[in-house]
Amino acid sequence: MKISSIVLKNFRNYEQALIAPCPGVTVLVGDNAQGKTNVLEAVYLCCTGRSHRTAHDREMIRAGQDNCYVKVSGVRRDGPHDVEVAFALAGKRRVKVNGSVTAKSGELLGHITGVLFAPEDLRMIKDGPQARRRFIDMELSQLKPAYYYALQRYNRALRQRNALLKDISLASASADTLDVWDAELAQSGAEIMRERAQFVEELCKSASRIHSEVTGGKEELSVAYEPDAPLGQSLEECQNELAAALLDRRQADIRRMLTSAGPHRDDMGVYVDGMDARAFGSQGQVRTCALSLKLSEVDIMKSLMGDAPVLMLDDVMSELDPERRRLLVSHLNDVQTLITCTDKNDLAGAQVGKLLNVCAATITEEA
Ligand SMILES: Nc1ncnc2c1ncn2[C@@H]1O[C@H](COP(=O)(O)OP(=O)(O)OP(=O)(O)O)[C@@H](O)[C@H]1O
Ligand SMILES: [Mg+2]
Repeated sequence: MKISSIVLKNFRNYEQALIAPCPGVTVLVGDNAQGKTNVLEAVYLCCTGRSHRTAHDREMIRAGQDNCYVKVSGVRRDGPHDVEVAFALAGKRRVKVNGSVTAKSGELLGHITGVLFAPEDLRMIKDGPQARRRFIDMELSQLKPAYYYALQRYNRALRQRNALLKDISLASASADTLDVWDAELAQSGAEIMRERAQFVEELCKSASRIHSEVTGGKEELSVAYEPDAPLGQSLEECQNELAAALLDRRQADIRRMLTSAGPHRDDMGVYVDGMDARAFGSQGQVRTCALSLKLSEVDIMKSLMGDAPVLMLDDVMSELDPERRRLLVSHLNDVQTLITCTDKNDLAGAQVGKLLNVCAATITEEA
C-alpha cells in the first residue's frame, strides 16, 4: 500500500493541510506540540476508524470549529483506495470509501491499511492484558472486518449483560433474562476466540523469526494465546465452552455485578527463552519484543493482504538505543513509512525520501 495524499481540514491544530508522502520514508520533523502526531492520528483514523489517542470524535475537531474532515488516498495492488471521515459537533460521523457513503462503521476497514508504532507500544509487554488485546484487535479488525463486527456485537452484549446483572442484584429483574445475552456472548465470543487463536499462532511464527534476526539469534521469542474460557477445537465447541463458563459463573457474576468469563479477559503470553517476559523481562528485552511484534504485524498484513501496510513510527526512534534503531531501519525496505521525530539525528541512517518540517500546523518541505 502506498499513500499518495493526506488531506486535513480543521483536524486538531490544522486549519488545512495537504501532505503527499513519498513511496519510501517520509519524515515529519518539528518541535513538540507542532502537529506531527496529529498527522499520524488522521491516517490511523482512516485505517481503523478510531483514533489511537481518544474515543471522542469531538476532540479531533479544531478548537473553535464545528466540523472536521480527513481524507487519505492511496494505491494498493488492486487499484486506488480512499477513505474520507468527517465529524461535526452536532450530528453523526460520516464516512466515505472510494467516494461512496458507508452504512456500517466496519466498511472503512481494509482499504487504507497501517501499523502505528508509538512510544506507549514499547510498554505493551509490561502493561496489563488490555494493551495486548488491543494490539490483537486492531490488527485483526483491519485484516478481517467480520472480526470487527463480532467484537462490536460482543461488546454491546457485554454492556447489556453487565447492566442486567446490576438490575438482578437489585431484584428488579430475574436471572433468566440473562439467557439471551449469554447466547450472544457465547456466539460472538467464540468467533473472537477462534480468530485470536489462529492469529496468535501466525504471530508467533513471524515474531520468533524477526526476534531471532533482531537479537542476532541470541534470544528466542514466542507468544501464546491465553484465553480466559477454554478454547474449543471448533467454533461450535468454543461456543459451548463459553456458554457453560457463563452459566457456571452466573451466581458469582450477579453478586459482583460483572461478567467474569469471556474473551474480554483474554491475554497473550510473551516468552523469551521460555521465561514470561511480562513478569521477568528486562526493560531492553521487552522493548525488543514489542519491536518484533510490531514488525510482525507488518509482515502478517503483507502476506495475508498482498500489500504491506503503511508503517507509522511516532517518535519511537528517540526511545530506542542506536542498535535497535538500526535494526528497525533495516526492516523498512519496500514498506512506505511515516516517521515523526524532533531531532533528525535520531533517524539512524534511514533512507529518507522526503523531509517535512512541521511548525505550528504548517508543513513545509525541506529541499
Ligand atoms: N482539537 C484541537 N484543536 C486545536 N488544537 C489542538 C486540538 N487537539 C490538539 N491540538 C494541539 O495540537 C498540538 C499537538 O499536536 P501533536 O500531538 O501532533 O504534537 P507533536 O508535534 O506530535 O508533538 P510531540 O513532539 O510533543 O509529540 C498541541 O499544540 C495541541 O494543543
Ligand atoms: Mg507527537
